[in-house]
Amino acid sequence: MIIGVPKEIKTLENRVGLTPAHCADLIKTGHKLIVETKAGEGSGFSDNEYKNAGAQICQASDVYREADLVVKVKEPLETEYALIRKGQTIFTYFHFASSRQLTEAMIKSGAVCISYETVEKSDRSLPLLVPMSEVAGRMAVQKGANYLEKHNHGRGILLGGVPGVPPANVVILGAGIVGANAAKMAAGLGARVTIMDINLTRLRQLDDIMPANVTTLFSSQSNVNEAVKTADLIIGAILVPGAKAPILITREMLKTMKPGTVLVDVAVDQGGCIETCKPTTHENPTYIVDGIVHYCVANMPGAVPFTSTLALTNVTFPYVCQIASKGWQKACKENQELKLGLNVVNGQIVYKKISEAFDLPYSEVEQHLG
Ligand SMILES: NC(=O)c1ccc[n+]([C@@H]2O[C@H](COP(=O)([O-])OP(=O)(O)OC[C@H]3O[C@@H](n4cnc5c(N)ncnc54)[C@H](O)[C@@H]3O)[C@@H](O)[C@H]2O)c1
Repeated sequence: MIIGVPKEIKTLENRVGLTPAHCADLIKTGHKLIVETKAGEGSGFSDNEYKNAGAQICQASDVYREADLVVKVKEPLETEYALIRKGQTIFTYFHFASSRQLTEAMIKSGAVCISYETVEKSDRSLPLLVPMSEVAGRMAVQKGANYLEKHNHGRGILLGGVPGVPPANVVILGAGIVGANAAKMAAGLGARVTIMDINLTRLRQLDDIMPANVTTLFSSQSNVNEAVKTADLIIGAILVPGAKAPILITREMLKTMKPGTVLVDVAVDQGGCIETCKPTTHENPTYIVDGIVHYCVANMPGAVPFTSTLALTNVTFPYVCQIASKGWQKACKENQELKLGLNVVNGQIVYKKISEAFDLPYSEVEQHLG
């Protein structure tokens, strides 16, 4: 099979769909790899590294003209729509439900669109979203520590304290992937960590494995109200699948906090769990409301493309291998996880929530699997 890797053209997107090492592995198993020039540059992989791995370097138009399977990171943008052709398989994050224009363009293209974000395991976890949550959770603490510094308008407190001086209090709302990774990092730096969730089973698990400087706490509104008063750094890491995040910190509550407290709302991409949260960018990541520093970058992993590309491709690569060796139909028939990734096939929507989002016709996926 011919596998193509275009350069991501979305603003400030530096990740790439496959690394040179992955290309080499695919070439070893008989596939041809075509990679757009500079596709890996933002993640630290040069054209020469891809060439040495055995891939051909070409232009974007060649990738889309020749490849049977295109492996990307972000959804195609308008200039890419016309390049995508009938029968071609595109494996990437699509997030169709947030764009009618993209959905209609992919229906028109006749391509087979397999979305990273809807590949789903039998326990309902989303394996291709996990690594980005791991990155964001760990980064949240790094960013929080930085914005707690006085010149960044923070309280001027060191997360770990020093001998004779107490450490900072870190409160984490949500004990999922983001929350647990943030707790691990903050605890490692010596902070006093409180991690809150409404899922007691999850809190029990974390209570067993986290170090002694991590306390688990049920996320009732009164517990949240109390915890924020003494917090130095608060990390929002809540997810209610398919819904906007609930607001746990209201604007009123900011007045009860210490001036210079830092809020990192990682859940900003789902609306955020802090009332005063609004999406920011890496160029302009923070703003201040009532003396409280807000960091609300919606694509945190974009700042560390080397780590993010490796973390993402570690989990996408096994699926790429299956599609490449079996073809998308057989691969999806034999792997239910991948089958759930099918969103738009041969001009029809095969994922119910997307058809419902836009009131567009739905077609049973089975009809397309031959
Ligand atoms: N900003 C970014 O760059 C970025 C990157 C990755 C993920 N995210 C976002 O981070 C959020 C968390 O992702 P995740 O992978 O950790 O999700 P997850 O499903 O693993 O964890 C979410 C947790 O929130 C808990 N929760 C739900 N309601 C709660 C409440 N009222 N109080 C306390 N806890 C509650 C759930 O029980 C669950 O444990 C999501 O919104 C995700 O989209 C953002």
